[in-house]
Amino acid sequence: MRRTGRKTTGSRSSRYGHFSADGAEYVITNPYPPRPWINYLTNGDYCALCSHVGGGYAFYKDHRFHSVLARGEHQRTSDLPARLVYIKDEDTGEIWTANVHPIGKFTTFEARHGAGYTLIQSSYRSVAVQLRFFVPQGMDAEMWSVDLCNRSRSERRLSVYTLAELALGNVALVQHEPFYQGLFHEARLSRNLLTATHKFHFTEGWSEICDPWPLRVIATSTCPPQRMLMDRAAFFGAFRGHHNPAALDEEWLPRGAPTPRDLVAVNQWRIRLAPGESWQTHIALAVQANNDSTSHVAQIKSLRRPATYERAWKNTRVFWQELFDSVQIETPEPDINVMMNHWNKIQLITNFYFGRAPSYYHKSQMPAMRDCCQDAFGVVPLRPELAGANLRRIARFFFADGQACAGCNRIDLREKAAIKVDLPLWFVLAIADYLRETGDMGILDERFPLMDGGESSVYEKMLAGIDRMIGLRGPHGLPLIGGGDWNDPANRIGAGGKGESVWLAEFVYLVIAEIEPIMRAKKDLDKLAVYRRRAEELRKIVNEQCWDGQWFVRAFRDDGQPVGARGQEEGSIWINSQTWAVIADISDQSRLNACTDAVERHLGTPYGLTNLGPAYTRYDRSIGRITCFRAGWKENGAVFSHASSFNVVARAMLGRGRDALDLYRRILPMTKDSTRYFMEPYVYAQFCAGPAAGHEMGQGAYHWLTGTAAWMFRAMTDYIIGVRAEWNGLRVRPVVDPAWKHFKLSRQFRGSRYEFNFLNPRGVETGVRQIILDGEPLEGDLIPLPTQPVHRVTVKMG
Ligand code: GLC
Repeated sequence: MRRTGRKTTGSRSSRYGHFSADGAEYVITNPYPPRPWINYLTNGDYCALCSHVGGGYAFYKDHRFHSVLARGEHQRTSDLPARLVYIKDEDTGEIWTANVHPIGKFTTFEARHGAGYTLIQSSYRSVAVQLRFFVPQGMDAEMWSVDLCNRSRSERRLSVYTLAELALGNVALVQHEPFYQGLFHEARLSRNLLTATHKFHFTEGWSEICDPWPLRVIATSTCPPQRMLMDRAAFFGAFRGHHNPAALDEEWLPRGAPTPRDLVAVNQWRIRLAPGESWQTHIALAVQANNDSTSHVAQIKSLRRPATYERAWKNTRVFWQELFDSVQIETPEPDINVMMNHWNKIQLITNFYFGRAPSYYHKSQMPAMRDCCQDAFGVVPLRPELAGANLRRIARFFFADGQACAGCNRIDLREKAAIKVDLPLWFVLAIADYLRETGDMGILDERFPLMDGGESSVYEKMLAGIDRMIGLRGPHGLPLIGGGDWNDPANRIGAGGKGESVWLAEFVYLVIAEIEPIMRAKKDLDKLAVYRRRAEELRKIVNEQCWDGQWFVRAFRDDGQPVGARGQEEGSIWINSQTWAVIADISDQSRLNACTDAVERHLGTPYGLTNLGPAYTRYDRSIGRITCFRAGWKENGAVFSHASSFNVVARAMLGRGRDALDLYRRILPMTKDSTRYFMEPYVYAQFCAGPAAGHEMGQGAYHWLTGTAAWMFRAMTDYIIGVRAEWNGLRVRPVVDPAWKHFKLSRQFRGSRYEFNFLNPRGVETGVRQIILDGEPLEGDLIPLPTQPVHRVTVKMG
């Protein structure tokens, strides 16, 4: 068993835990933090949410339709069902859970979340237990290892039980009508093997019946249990629960119904341990196609051999280590290093695979196009080939007229056209970024089906999206906001067909700048001229009609009235029309700086920036749902991490290094007081409550799944440390806190490694005096494309 971790990253710890010495693990030392602090164990297809006490659920590819482990009360404060390990002392009859929760008896406890795994170590009555949960690369399964040691001076007679609750197929239906859905279960128990599936599978509405669930779940272990049980009702009994399952009253697990409605996978081992003696078993819950392939039999056999688990464990560690290595930084700030080198990447990859869907908050959310494109953008420098594959998949979710689908699921379901109008433009941004990183221009000509029939190339899809947006103009000449843009719940500004978005105008302006080099390469000059004219028009309108003296208004409603304008009692300033004015470079420096100052003045808090201010307290039908959230919560005036992270980029683009880092630090999760914030200190949450939330200000919500992961990552590499992929090389423009005298970045680029060493002896915010590339001085700030496996670059600021 492993020793307790030391705290040497220098990153701050909380009352409930700390980072491990190398920063790769978060160690939770108290089983009762303010909320379940969870981890995602995934290989990109099988995904297990696993809290510090083993809580959570699991699914394959899509949490809505391919559920595996039951999703119970996993809402915010609750954490059951879980992957539970019960221990019964056969001499005294006492029962406890090695997870600690839910029975709560323990002498020692420590949980470690790492990349792809969670370890729980606990002891009680001198029985020490280590539970290891992980999801291997290359196999759709979750693997559990249970390791017990008798630390007492006498022989112990114990029963060990493992419990996994299954919910197969469409999770919403299973939860809505559990008894009815149970009638479709089909399960078999044979020695050391449980096989279960669901005979009917609904993917869309109640009325649409598809074929049987195409998957099945198997459970087996390396150490054959003396008893197995799959009948949930027989395990818990009536009026009993996870604290006191009825089956544990007896010497042996009961047989249960031969074809139970509600399924569990329970094992029982009765063991005797001499003093100091250990016992171990590995268990797998695997997903297989529901057919009789011989490879299934081979897989089951291999899952009964301990070597399989150890090999899978090693491969999984190697996968994550390589991911960590692809981009590494070293700055004077341990909190930033620990996030950037480990946890920001783990969070980013999780978002990249599953969008904003499966967490302890959302239940029915789908992977949405806007989010998927931003996550692909985030992943580009880390794993360009994965980002490219995902962008190719997303390319299937468009219509001929340039509309995009709201969702882009991973299981080949049809999707409908989105109400939100900005979606196709995020695809252009992500593709442009991918091209600068990889030079893979061939992707532009690859053809993919359209939702409404036929097919088109990636390039044609990009143009169709822009064409459509250029065509949708309102009374001021700005883009129509339709059913809404980035700010989802501001959904009624354009309900009457006339409302316009200033943010969208800035976004279109940026997208045209992004696609320009691509269109030049394609020699599409006539169309480019049309786009450029539209861009200039937008610049003029935004500057002449949307500048409010100190900031840019956010939108115009159907009746022509501005949203987010000075003098308004509520919602007088919205963050994104300021931030994206800077990112798009749509105005002069003095206005861009002025609106950035206004953001800090009106929206700044110790935790980051609120989305707008003052928060709305009265429902305004002409703006939408945003105005009826509780004031200070969610988009209505919460400190919104995603929007704050955009603003870090804006600050850096203005050369304001001190300001950019000041905001960066405020957004970092471990800089927040856990007793107020509640959320995990190792990953970003979507928001924490803003000043209008009164005494609840600072309380976090919607953990893990947020575009913040992508933007905080790129804000640091591309805009603060300032190494950006361009068409012909890496542009170097550091914008830092003057206190940063020395910092490093190591990243891959076009198949080679670049080791950057930054020196800032005079303590400037920005400006490069000299660049030395492989020992030779370089003219300018563009590092050319690689010519050898490793390039060393010294950047002297000043
Ligand atoms: C959530 C959504 C994202 C949206 C944002 C603001 O983060 O995932 O798509 O842009 O909220 O509404």
